[in-house]
Amino acid sequence: MPAIVIVGVQWGDEGKGKVVDYLSRSADFVVRYQGGNNAGHTVVFDGKTFAMHLVPSGVFLPKVRNVIGNGVVVDPKALRGEVEMLEGRGIRVRGRLHVSLSAHVILPYHIVLDGLREESGHGIGTTRRGIGPCYEDKVARVGIRVADYLDPGAFKALVDQNLRLRACDLERVKPKALIREEVFAEYEPLRGFLKPFCCDVAILLEKALKAGERVLLESAQGAMLDVDFGTYPFVTSSNPVAGGACSGSGIGPTSIGGVVGVTKAYTTRVGLGPFPTEIEGRTARYLRQVGKEYGATTGRPRRIGWLDLVQLKAALRVNGVSNLAMMKLDALANVHPIKVATAYKVKGRLTREFPVSRADQLDAEPVYESYPGFSGDLGAARSFSDLPKAARDYVLAVERGLGVPIPIVSLGRSREQTVLRGKGLPWP
Ligand code: IMO
Ligand code: MG
Repeated sequence: MPAIVIVGVQWGDEGKGKVVDYLSRSADFVVRYQGGNNAGHTVVFDGKTFAMHLVPSGVFLPKVRNVIGNGVVVDPKALRGEVEMLEGRGIRVRGRLHVSLSAHVILPYHIVLDGLREESGHGIGTTRRGIGPCYEDKVARVGIRVADYLDPGAFKALVDQNLRLRACDLERVKPKALIREEVFAEYEPLRGFLKPFCCDVAILLEKALKAGERVLLESAQGAMLDVDFGTYPFVTSSNPVAGGACSGSGIGPTSIGGVVGVTKAYTTRVGLGPFPTEIEGRTARYLRQVGKEYGATTGRPRRIGWLDLVQLKAALRVNGVSNLAMMKLDALANVHPIKVATAYKVKGRLTREFPVSRADQLDAEPVYESYPGFSGDLGAARSFSDLPKAARDYVLAVERGLGVPIPIVSLGRSREQTVLRGKGLPWP
């Protein structure tokens, strides 16, 4: 059975956690392949709300095994906090979570460096979890992998090397010796916690796929935050796009059978950077309130905008999206009219392609089509035909505009508030 990638096709926070939880009913493995605890995936299970940062969203189904791939950056302290939170709330994690020996480890100095960069006047509004600096170390070939962390001698030598390399910056905040002491005092004892989870994930997944098991690959962030295809430099430091699922997990491209893109029925973004369809004022405040548009990781209010077909088409292209899930259609109720961008004007010229240059991305002025709004409590619908006609027409118009089927429509946070349409799920 081929693996399926579930990928955000906007600027993150699309509702990937809910889609993964929903599809994991028919999965054996759920794998995170990039990002770290910058992610905030909200899953409602048994009426309780969980904000997931590192542990894959498949953890709520006892039969599903969850994997943190080599492409993820892992802060062992954050991981322990999340595992303890889950186990304290009745979700068994130990024995069904696997962490790649090749994943890179986030240490306190990465968090210090992230904060320094943010305060330098060149910040982009990161989550300050140390994500960027940890990936910098990885690409600079000085990073510390889980396998190195588990080896006390190698860990000590690599920490000392990295503190020397970063001393100029770090010393502006704290003496290097103090940071060193903090790293060892906190992270040496965490080794025993992490060790039982660790394995060669590529081997684990190869066996699973050969045995016909179903693997879901869960992206964090989204296509527009991708370091290659996003609104650079206002992006994260990894490749959320579906291609990243292979390099971030050890699964080869021939094992990927489909890509489910996740989009909201409108758009949000946290952090700085271009956002062509951004709106302010009454409608933005309304959507922020009904859509609970506050970051699950940092609590920051999310920026709000209309759905953007120019942006989505670019995202569908670079992800090879085969199906879409449209989230939070319910939150659009009582918004009249609903606008959708179908083109941009950039420097006075009309275009239907998302621009590459940062100046053009900032300059892009959307050209909108308007759709009649709808009202009522969409969350009570249990089939697509239960929805008001204007709501159905909106989904059909987006589907036509993008040329990709939308088999999953979400109408609220709970699993029940999900309707399937057309050919239904991407899996039999
Ligand atoms: P999920 O998985 C939305 C944004 C940050 C910032 C930029 C870089 O919940 O969709 P980073 O800390 O990654 O170096 O910050 O990326 N960002 C997210 N925005 N959802 C996320 O994750 C995000 N993870 C990072 O706000 O603009
Ligand atoms: Mg989030």
